[in-house]
Amino acid sequence: MTKLTKVSFGKLGAPSGGVAMILAAEGLALGSQTQAFVAGMEGGFERAAKVAGFTGKSGTSLDLIAPAGIPVDRLIVVGLGKAEELTDEAWLKLGGTVQGLLAGAKADKATLLLEITPEEDVSAQACATVAMGAKLRSYSYDAPKAKKADDESPEMIRLELAVANVKDAKKAWAAAEGVADGVCLARDLVNLPPNLLGPVEFAKAASDLTKLGVEVDILTEKEMKKLKMGALLGVAQGAARPPRLAVMRWNGGKKGDAPLAFVGKGVVFDTGGISIKPAAGMEEMRGDMGGAAAVTGLMHAVAARKAKANVVGVIGLVENMPDGNAYRPGDVLTAMSGTTIEVLNTDAEGRLVLADALWYTQDRFKPAFMIDLATLTGAVIVALGHLNAGMYSNNDELAGQLEAAGKATGESLWRLPLSKGYDKLIDTPNADVKNTGGRTAGSVTAAQFLQRFANDVTWAHLDIAGTAFGPPKNEINQSWATGYGVRLLDRLVSEFYER
Ligand code: BES
Ligand code: MN
Ligand code: ZN
Repeated sequence: MTKLTKVSFGKLGAPSGGVAMILAAEGLALGSQTQAFVAGMEGGFERAAKVAGFTGKSGTSLDLIAPAGIPVDRLIVVGLGKAEELTDEAWLKLGGTVQGLLAGAKADKATLLLEITPEEDVSAQACATVAMGAKLRSYSYDAPKAKKADDESPEMIRLELAVANVKDAKKAWAAAEGVADGVCLARDLVNLPPNLLGPVEFAKAASDLTKLGVEVDILTEKEMKKLKMGALLGVAQGAARPPRLAVMRWNGGKKGDAPLAFVGKGVVFDTGGISIKPAAGMEEMRGDMGGAAAVTGLMHAVAARKAKANVVGVIGLVENMPDGNAYRPGDVLTAMSGTTIEVLNTDAEGRLVLADALWYTQDRFKPAFMIDLATLTGAVIVALGHLNAGMYSNNDELAGQLEAAGKATGESLWRLPLSKGYDKLIDTPNADVKNTGGRTAGSVTAAQFLQRFANDVTWAHLDIAGTAFGPPKNEINQSWATGYGVRLLDRLVSEFYER
């Protein structure tokens, strides 16, 4: 459903015909092939840069139409910034910027000379990261419309990256492309309207991963009743559409190795239930399955790149609706763990879904760790905005690894506290726990609630309410949904858990 850029790799050399793109570091430093190429312009390049005030700063560019002396129709120069500051994230954003410039120029084919300075080649990994940035930027949600808007932009942009080591770059891209596809899958799931993506349709999307070698089981209401998942089923009981629990398994590691488990909140639409939400902005709650989308995208990623790890994804798929049969404030539910939960607000439903999904995951899989993702609270947006996910963990090592993966991918997160004092806020005389902790520290008390269902397994919780959808458009994403979490967790797996 998306119109993507197709990336290929070729040898470094002078491009001819069509659009050529080159990189210039700050101070107008060029790679050797690039230097040789623009030498054909006999000083025209330097003159144009000077007149335009282009110095190679990152985020800037220079567009030269029909440049004299070189055999191309258009030369787009992209600023690299300081060569020594080229992090993974910088390469990713560069790829996005390149794609944005091509789309803006309505070009359907271009060659990018990918080199930094005469002394330094771009690593194969960085080449793949540029390609990923371009692909992520080119993603657009294909909205269901009878009449497509008049759009002169090409169906597909073909971007050739001219690199020092074609073989290694291709190999790195084969893996990275699988991750990019996982991000696009997560974005599609979040962007889809709630009538077209209910629990059953979402479960079908999870089942489609069998094509990549993922084992998928879908639990129906009947099976969840047998397992006594009273918390998840309590949320689901007001909806006409039945719930599902999708279990995805990628067995790329050693047989018998404890799996890495990822658990997602998949509320396909959150009206708030009987504690109904205000009308304004309620349509955003079509994205309340962003955690489940990230887990599904991650399963796609690890399977597509054949990760050498055992990975489990579990997603709780429900709809939260007000109805004559809906659960109410004051109800006491019994979760699969046996814990009783007093419902004080039916809009605090995500934690109920996760309570059973987390308990089930640790009980069935005995994972090495469990990480859940959920668009869980408005409070985390108040605290951190759209720039960081809130991270909670009962384990400093796992928290540190997540922080490192966040830095490397640019999918940022910020650790927030868990403590006995916060945990007390969800005690109640009427049950073992209540589902809200009052007005203060809303994201923290939600995390404390989840911790009670992690059963001392190494665990982290990512509150992605602010990062899954709705942030301003940027270099690598122009759509409402971000796919946040797929690249982050794929990185966590590849950097710390693969052998
Ligand atoms: N899905 C919402 C949280 C949310 C809000 C996600 C905005 C993305 C954007 C969640 O189910 C919810 O309604 N949380 C309540 C909890 C409260 C009732 C304790 C909230 O945050 O207000
Ligand atoms: Mn809610
Ligand atoms: Zn919700």
